Parts: sequence; C-alpha cells; structure tokens
Amino acid sequence: MSRQIQAVRGMNDLLPEVVGAWQHVEAAAARVLAAYGYREVRLPLLERTDLFARSIGEVTDIVEKEMYTFEDRNGDSLTLRPEGTAGCVRAGIEHSLFHNQVQRLWYAGAMFRHERPQKGRYRQFHQIGVEAFGFDGPDVDAELMAMCARLWDALALTGLKLEINSLGTAGSRSAYRAELVRYLQGCRARLDEDSQRRLETNPLRILDSKSPEMQEVVSGAPRLCDYLDEASRRHFDDLRAFLDALEIEYVVNERLVRGLDYYTRTVFEWTTDRLGAQGTVCAGGRYDGLVEQLGGRATPAAGFALGMERLVELLEPGDPRADAVAPDAYVAVTGPAMHADGMVLSERLRDAGLRATLHCGGGSLKSQMKRADRSGARFALILGEAEIEEGFVTVKPLRDERPQLRVARDAIISFLLDEAAASARNCER
Ligand code: HAM
Repeated sequence: MSRQIQAVRGMNDLLPEVVGAWQHVEAAAARVLAAYGYREVRLPLLERTDLFARSIGEVTDIVEKEMYTFEDRNGDSLTLRPEGTAGCVRAGIEHSLFHNQVQRLWYAGAMFRHERPQKGRYRQFHQIGVEAFGFDGPDVDAELMAMCARLWDALALTGLKLEINSLGTAGSRSAYRAELVRYLQGCRARLDEDSQRRLETNPLRILDSKSPEMQEVVSGAPRLCDYLDEASRRHFDDLRAFLDALEIEYVVNERLVRGLDYYTRTVFEWTTDRLGAQGTVCAGGRYDGLVEQLGGRATPAAGFALGMERLVELLEPGDPRADAVAPDAYVAVTGPAMHADGMVLSERLRDAGLRATLHCGGGSLKSQMKRADRSGARFALILGEAEIEEGFVTVKPLRDERPQLRVARDAIISFLLDEAAASARNCER
C-alpha cells in the first residue's frame, strides 16, 4: 500500500456528523442578519499581500508571523486571507459601494493563519463577518452587538460575556501610546521577552498580555480612558446608553485593545469560560480610518467576526435542530424484484418535499435496518412482496419505541409529512 497523505496541520475536515451543527449556526446567522438588513457578499480567498500589510498593520502578529504568503506564477505576492475585513473594504472601494451610500454587508468562509494549533485555534478556520459602512454614530455599534445577542438567543447559547472598550481616535491613541511607552520603559527589567519586543513595535498589545507578571506591570500603567478625546468619550457614553436601553449586559474592559491595527473608538469581544484559553467567540469594533487608508473616500465603518469552530463547540450536543438534515425515511426492499418499486416510492417522497434515502446494494433486511439506523432516518419504510401486492408500506419508527405499523401506500406521504411537522414543532419548543 502507498503511504497515506494526511491533511495539513491545523486544517480540519468537517465530516457529515458535525456539518449539521454548522448548517444550523449558518442558517440562524443568515436569518438574524437578514432581519437587520445585512446582505451577503462573497469575496476571494486570495488577495494581494499588500492589502493585509496596509490594513491589519505591519507589526501585528498576523502580518509578521502568521500569513500564508507566496508568489504566484507571475511573481505577484499573494496571501490567503487571514481575516475578512480588509478584503471587504477592498471590494467596497473597487465597486464604489461607499459613494454616497451606506452598506450593511456580511460574509462567511475560511480564513488562514499560521498559528500554533490547539483546541479552538486552527490554521484554517471559519468566520462569519459583518461590516457596516457609512455610519459614524454609536447606534450602529450597538446594533452590531444586539445582532450578536439575538444570534446567541437563537442558538440557545448562554454565558457569553460582552466586553467593550474605546481606543479613541488615532490622535488620542498616539498621545496615550507615548505615555504608555514612557511608563513601560521605566519597568523595562520586568518585561518578558514578548513585551520587550512589543514595546518597540506595538506597545498597546502589552496591555492585553495574558501572563500574570505582565498583568501586574500593566496594572500600574496609565489608562487609555484618561486619554480619550472628547468626541470619542461621548461616542462611548452614548453606546453604553444604547446597550442599557436594549438591556444588553456588558462590562467595560479597559485593557481590551485587539490584535489588528485598524481599530478606532469602539472595540468589543464576546467571551466564554467554557472553551479554555480560546474563549473569544466573536470580536470586532469600529475602523473609521481604514477605507481612506486603502485608497477610498473617508468612510466610517464598524464590524465584527465570529469564529465558527468555537461557536459550534458551544452548542449543546444532540440539539435536534442541529441535525435537521437527517432523512425522513430510509427505504428498504426485501429483494431485487422490489428495487424499482422502492426507487419509485423514494422519488414520490422527494416530490412531496421529504428527504428519502434509498437502500442501494442489496443485502439482508437486517443489514438494511442497520444502515437505516446509521443514516439517522426517523423511519424505515420496508417494501416486500406482501406490501406490493396489498398496496401498503411497513413503517418502522427508528428514533422512538413505537411499534412497527402498516400504512396504505397512498397515505404514506401524508403520514410522513405529519410526522415531520410534529417533530419540527417539538424542536421549536
Ligand atoms: P479577530 O479577533 O482576529 O478579528 O477574529 C475574530 C474571531 O475569529 C475570533 O474572536 C475567533 O473567534 C476567531 N478566530 C480567530 N483566529 C482563529 C483561529 N486561529 N482559529 C479559530 N478561530 C479563530 C477579525 O478577524 C476581524 N476581521 C473582525 C472584524 C470584522 N472587525 C471588524 N470587522
């Protein structure tokens, strides 16, 4: 046998057993986003490397160490997108989506970062990203957070905590940055290696360092909120008032700074303590300078992205709604003479909008029932000689203890439709 080829480290296959849960999240997100007037865009996985360097920032972890960058056959430097905001802004500028109009957009798909893989952190992962362009007020910031809260409700997720902060404008941040650097230089000897490096490149990131020693150093640092410009302070106060009015709970985390450089004013994260170290399931903020920075007309913007792998991990196992694609019926036949009949019956079920899996490949009834069970179907429909002669179908419930029953062939569709409707009602409850 030849040597097997395995998947690239940190890149996962999603097998049928888990895809139901993914579709459940995607469908819920699509419904919630549509309810707020957001429209889907589909953007390339590959972009020019410059796009990310100019938006995420040259001295961020993502751009310095995590991008999948290569030269294509023309010698152009391309990068697999590590996130979706930069591409969305690029597309918006390219197609003049921001000229005298506002845009509410969303996208879903794979992102790529060469991080150290661990539970909840992968090299290919998936986001649903949401971006609002052309709104400069805190109302849109609050809308983005309300949309998340509604999605958590739709997915019956509890225990997610919203943290918010304001980074101010680029101007107020650079005044703060100077003060912070002065303070940290005073404690240089206590800084770990990572923080020493960040002191030169991206000192604000030291604020959200996870190490206890660094947190102690940081606890005495000047506070970003004391350096906010007046307009940013008002923006943040108004956002808090909106969140209070919407009864969305939050905490202000003064250390929340985010790992991408494009943010201004509002930043936020939704976290859980159920996922260990990778507890941020959704994160975002305002990036008022990015459109102009990438060559467009100045356009305020805000958005977020949620991590699909982390969110799916939080779903209750066995949620019946996550398995909504299981067949309604598995059609088995007792011998080759009944095969065509089974095929025709399956087609009629599908005509009626039901999901039917036809047993293919013959075998004993026992082995067919095993497959029927494994398929996740709610019922096995059995066609044998007697069934065909007398015009009925033997129906074997597979997901509960009800006894087997005979249903007239011309009543089988309404029987299955009634059962499907009853089960959908159960899920709603
Ligand atoms: P981000 O914080 O880099 O922001 O990523 C958003 C979310 O994607 C994270 O909170 C996490 O749930 C998930 N995520 C990130 N990296 C990984 C990974 N290696 N494995 C699994 N999940 C991961 C952004 O990407 C911004 N573009 C968000 C945004 C949109 N801001 C404004 N608009």
